[in-house]
Amino acid sequence: MTFETINLTDHIGTRISIDADTLLKPDVARDVRGILEQRGVLVFKELNLTDEQQSRLASLMGSLRPEGEKGIFKVSLDKKENAHGDYLKGSFLWHIDGTHDEVPVFASLLSGRRLSQVGGQTEFASSYAAYEALPQATKDRIGGLKVAHSVEVSMRRAGVEATEQNLAYWRSHSDKVHNLVWTHKSGRKSLVIGCHASHVVGMDRAESDQLLQELLEWTTQPRFKYRHEWTVGDMLIWDNTGVLHRAEPYAADSGRVMHRTTLLGEEAFA
Ligand code: OGA
Ligand code: MN
Repeated sequence: MTFETINLTDHIGTRISIDADTLLKPDVARDVRGILEQRGVLVFKELNLTDEQQSRLASLMGSLRPEGEKGIFKVSLDKKENAHGDYLKGSFLWHIDGTHDEVPVFASLLSGRRLSQVGGQTEFASSYAAYEALPQATKDRIGGLKVAHSVEVSMRRAGVEATEQNLAYWRSHSDKVHNLVWTHKSGRKSLVIGCHASHVVGMDRAESDQLLQELLEWTTQPRFKYRHEWTVGDMLIWDNTGVLHRAEPYAADSGRVMHRTTLLGEEAFA
């Protein structure tokens, strides 16, 4: 390997020390993707990639999702930067991106461009590791369960105002039902939970609320978690298929702007 890696916790997160030119070599980008699949989150301190380099890296690691300008989406609560800024308040709660799609995005690359003075750090939790560590009785109990996911539920939980315009946008994403336990083609299993998980299909509401809450608390306990404290120029990559994430709350006028590039999903929920 032409770079150094340090595992940041036992179950999730690896820091990779590398320069941009080396990272953009196709065989290196392929190796990096392999580490991402094993470790859930990759951290590149002060890599300072340009937008163009970031999109190129994404294309070398998978299929770039066409969004924003040349594949760069600005994550910002400021409506001048992002018309759906309100929607991003949902990112303050633990979530998986794209549970309203059949094939959720595989991974995202996020570069810190401007940071908030207060809040705005990002946390990740491995639902691969969390599932693996569950007691067998719980695995047996949840194995066949299905969960309904709703954008509207996640937005209401995040306290986003249900204006007519917001409601219309939320409802343009139809609700989806996914297995609670996602069995990947690799054979690994992860939990499909988060603020968008409305209820377990066919289960009494109180019991469903309690189960989903318990699983979320289990998954986000310190041993399965990595918390990133940002420095401008850092870039993170997370595997959205087995990792939950959230941003610590920050103000809409904090100036925080992150540049995100997303890789299209390669596997449907199953
Ligand atoms: C996202 C997201 C977290 C952050 O871009 O999907 O949840 O810290 N971002 O901005
Ligand atoms: Mn997100």
